[in-house]
Amino acid sequence: MSLFDGSLIDLNSISSQTIDTLFNLASSLKKQSRPPQHQGQTVALLFFEPSTRTRMSFETAAARSGLTALVFDGGQKTSLEKGETVEDSILNVAAMGPEYLVIRCGDEINLRAISKFVSAPILNAGWGVQGHPTQALLDTFTLREKWERLEERKLLIVGDVRHSRVAHSHFELASKVGLQIAVCCPEEMRSEKSSVKYFSDLSEALSWCDAVMALRVQFERHSDGSQLNREVYSEKYGLNKRNLRTLKSGSFVMHPGPINHGLEMDSEVIHQRNSLVLSQVSHGVFLREALFRMARGETW
Ligand code: CP
Repeated sequence: MSLFDGSLIDLNSISSQTIDTLFNLASSLKKQSRPPQHQGQTVALLFFEPSTRTRMSFETAAARSGLTALVFDGGQKTSLEKGETVEDSILNVAAMGPEYLVIRCGDEINLRAISKFVSAPILNAGWGVQGHPTQALLDTFTLREKWERLEERKLLIVGDVRHSRVAHSHFELASKVGLQIAVCCPEEMRSEKSSVKYFSDLSEALSWCDAVMALRVQFERHSDGSQLNREVYSEKYGLNKRNLRTLKSGSFVMHPGPINHGLEMDSEVIHQRNSLVLSQVSHGVFLREALFRMARGETW
């Protein structure tokens, strides 16, 4: 029987046991290579918003799983240009019988409603500000690879929490895996979707956590984005060498990407010994491959 046989639109319905199995499978996949199976089966990647990491790691995961990835990339040269709706585009691609529908889209699309009309599981690859479950899973998997046990560990999320689908998925996931979570951001960037511990002062927050993850300032989702004083923001909330002096020894630095260099994170920090930024990207492949395999009921 499959341990994971439905869509992954948010993390509320996934059990702690399934998460553990997923992480164990991703860890095994990291250590071993396996010949592709299931030749002839496809996965449709429908990206209505830009992406580098998520799209290409799903493509890589598909290749490693023996699935052919069919990419609908930004809708260019598709019938969207003739006025077809996003919903109709998804339903028509679903009618071609892919094993999965991996979808990135804006808040205006209702993935839950669409999931009722398609038989293939939908994997949310970043849905407006609502959630980015596979990103939260791969971030947490990256920490588990470092710590083995997540219980009682403290993850601090710094930055534009209000507009971050990544943060919103971490709020759903943290209690399931035992992580303690807190945010540090300007008051106007707090999210109403969670009442996790809040720090206004970065140095106090950094001395609390075992890992800190900066979020991209999402200018495209700000109605007044151009008003942000970049210098002041970087001074108060940027992960740079000066601010990171108060980070507890042995703690890790993360960013889901893409990065606004010199704003929420300085370039030199990405290459520090305690940076997990590129490990997060590598682990995205194994985590997504594990999802494909688990949804098909494969065991390892
Ligand atoms: N972290 C993330 O979702 O990156 P992309 O937008 O490049 O996929």
